[in-house]
Amino acid sequence: MDLLHWKLFPLLALLASFLFFFYIQDSSKSSQSGCSLFPHSHYWIASKRIVTPQGIISGAVEIKGGSIVSIVKNKDWSGKFKQVVDYGNAVVMPGLIDVHAHLDDPGRAEWEGFPSGTKAAAAGGITTLIDMPLNNFPSTVSTETLKLKIEAAEKSIYVDVGFWGGLVPENAFNATALEALLDAGVHGLKSFMCPSGINDFPMTDARHIKAGLSVLAKYKRPLLVHSEIQSVVESHLETEDGGGDPRSYSTYLKTRPPSWEEAAVRELLTVTKDTRSGGPAEGAHLHVVHLSDASSSLDLIKEAKRRGDSITVETCPHYLAFSAEEIPDGDTRFKCAPPIRDAANKEKLWNALMEGDIDMLSSDHSPTVPELKLLNDGNFLKAWGGISSIQFVLPVTWSYGQKYGITLEQLVSWWSERPAKLAGQHSKVKFLKLSFYICISINPPSPFSGALRMNNLEMTTTLFREP
Ligand SMILES: *[C@@H]1O[C@H](CO)[C@@H](O)[C@H](O)[C@H]1NC(C)=O
Ligand SMILES: [Zn+2]
Repeated sequence: MDLLHWKLFPLLALLASFLFFFYIQDSSKSSQSGCSLFPHSHYWIASKRIVTPQGIISGAVEIKGGSIVSIVKNKDWSGKFKQVVDYGNAVVMPGLIDVHAHLDDPGRAEWEGFPSGTKAAAAGGITTLIDMPLNNFPSTVSTETLKLKIEAAEKSIYVDVGFWGGLVPENAFNATALEALLDAGVHGLKSFMCPSGINDFPMTDARHIKAGLSVLAKYKRPLLVHSEIQSVVESHLETEDGGGDPRSYSTYLKTRPPSWEEAAVRELLTVTKDTRSGGPAEGAHLHVVHLSDASSSLDLIKEAKRRGDSITVETCPHYLAFSAEEIPDGDTRFKCAPPIRDAANKEKLWNALMEGDIDMLSSDHSPTVPELKLLNDGNFLKAWGGISSIQFVLPVTWSYGQKYGITLEQLVSWWSERPAKLAGQHSKVKFLKLSFYICISINPPSPFSGALRMNNLEMTTTLFREP
C-alpha cells in the first residue's frame, strides 16, 4: 500500500494548499466580487520565489480589481505597500492547466461531478481544466449535448472549465455539425482509435480523423487522440481466461501491449502530414494523449515532428510515478489505458520529458464509483479502467521529478504554458509572455468561458517547498 501514499510531498505544503483553498472559499463569500483572495480590491502577494519567464525572483504580484497588473521585484516594493500577504519562501507560480480531465456530469455525476472534481483541482493547484467529452452521458458530441454539459457545470465549479467536443463516426464527415460544435465554444476535438468503453462514444479511424482535421484547420484547433489500436490477435486475452490470473497486473498488461500504441501512432502519421505548412490541413494540430509507450511510439512522434507535422504529446503522472512491477495483485486502482508499463519504460518517459520529446503533462483524471473498480474481486480484466488523481498531479510530478533534477520552470512549462497553448487560451498565452501571471478576464476566447469562472485570478500559490 506504500505506493498509494503518492509521496505527497511535503505534507506541510499540501496542508498549506488546503488552507489556501478553503481561504479562497471563505473569503469569496465575504468579498464583493466573489472572486478575490481578500476583501480588498488592491493587494500584493509576496514571495521570495516567484516563477516568471525571466527566472525566479523575489518580489510581489500586484493584484487590482481581481486582475494581476504587475510583478515587482523585492527592492522596488518592500515596505511600500499595506495589503500584503507574504508567503515567505513558498513558491508562487502560474496555476496549472489540466487539458485532460473527465468530469462525468450529466449522466454519471456519481463517478465525478463538477463540484467535487473542480474542488479537487483547486486543492491541487489547478486553476483551469478542460473537460473530456466522454464518461458523461450523453457524450459531448453535438451542440445539444454541449449545452447539457454547460448547464451541469454552471451549477457549481471552483476553477475555470472548458470543454473538448467528441469526434465520432456520426459527426466526422459532417462539417456542418463539427463547425457548429466549434462555434459553440469547444476548444478542440477528441477521438478514440480503440473502443472507449463508453457506448455512445464509438471509435474513429484514420478516415474520420483526416476529415476532422480538415475542419479543425479552419479554426486552428487541435484534435486529441487516444492512440491505441486493438490488435485482433491479442485482444481475445481480455475476454478469455487463457491470459492468466486476472488478479495479476501482468495479465492485464499483456492485453494492451506497446504495439497497440505504435500501430495507432503509425496510422495517425499518415494523416498528420496534412498539417504541415502548405498541406491541406495546415492550421490543424494533432495531440497524442496519455502516451505510455516510450519506445517505438515516441520515436515515430519525434520523427513526425522533425518532418514538420503539427503534433504534440502528453503523458501523465501515474506513468511517471508507478511501474508495472510494483502494482500489487488485485489492486485495480492502478488500472488505466494505455496501461502503466515496466520500470525501464518509466525511465524512458522521464528522459523524454526532460529532453522535450514529451511536450506536456495532464492528469487523465478518470474516476468511477468504487463498485466498478471491483476492489473485492481485484479482477484487472473486468474492472473499470481510469485513475483518480487530479488533486495529486502537482506534488507527484514534483516529488518523483526530484531524482531527475526538474526545475520549477519546467513544471510551469509542462503544466501551464504548453497546455495553455494547446487549449487555445490565447489571452493566457499572451499574458504569459508579458508577465507570466494570468488574468483571464481579458478576452475570454470562447463564448461561455465568461460564465464558467470561479475567480478571474488565474494563479495559485503553491503548495510545496524545496526538500
Ligand atoms: C449534419 O449535421 C447537422 C447538424 O447537426 C444535421 O442537421 C444534418 O442532418 C447532418 N447531416 C447529415 C448528412 O447527417
Ligand atoms: Zn482520458
